[in-house]
Amino acid sequence: MTVDPPIRLADPADADEIAAMSREFIEHGLPWTWRPGRVLKAILNPETNVAVIRAERGLVAFGIMEYLESDAYLVLLAVRAESRRRGFGSALLEWLEASASVAGAQRIRLDARRDNAAARTFYNEHGYHEVAINRGRYSDGVDGIRLEKWLRPANAR
Ligand SMILES: CC(C)(COP(=O)(O)OP(=O)(O)OC[C@H]1O[C@@H](n2cnc3c(N)ncnc32)[C@H](O)[C@@H]1OP(=O)(O)O)[C@@H](O)C(=O)NCCC(=O)NCCS
Repeated sequence: MTVDPPIRLADPADADEIAAMSREFIEHGLPWTWRPGRVLKAILNPETNVAVIRAERGLVAFGIMEYLESDAYLVLLAVRAESRRRGFGSALLEWLEASASVAGAQRIRLDARRDNAAARTFYNEHGYHEVAINRGRYSDGVDGIRLEKWLRPANAR
């Protein structure tokens, strides 16, 4: 899926807004761990892909994916509240998946809060399977749900 405005890799000037969106839409009510300095490190890290959708009015969406040995880990993904249900999240996820596939990843993993029905439905719609419950994973005591999607069979390298 293509979107307008288009998806691109983040540059250092995006770090502050990404951190602010993480605090508002993902880490809301939790300690703020994705502060601008950490986001900037991710942007500059060649093992991490930070992708954004930016409109004239500001950042619309961002996603951060880390490349591990044969897996990729989707660390954060968020779309500004007023821009949801218009396909931006799907386009960004598909872009990050395609990049992970080209980089050789076999599988993408991520964790979602058990109480985040929107995210769980969104990832299920994109072919992610819920494979484990991580009791009390989040600092407010909410369980984590581990999801994963295989990009190619486990034994095909
Ligand atoms: C999860 C999130 C990224 C989805 O982004 P989005 O741009 O709204 O997603 P899309 O428009 O591409 O939605 C694709 C499909 O996912 C499902 N979906 C998305 N949001 C949903 C919701 N609130 N409730 C139920 N299903 C939902 C639907 O099947 C939707 O298709 P439809 O709109 O045709 O019904 C967005 O809700 C968000 O940023 N949430 C806050 C941050 C967050 O929880 N991130 C994930 C954990 S890191």
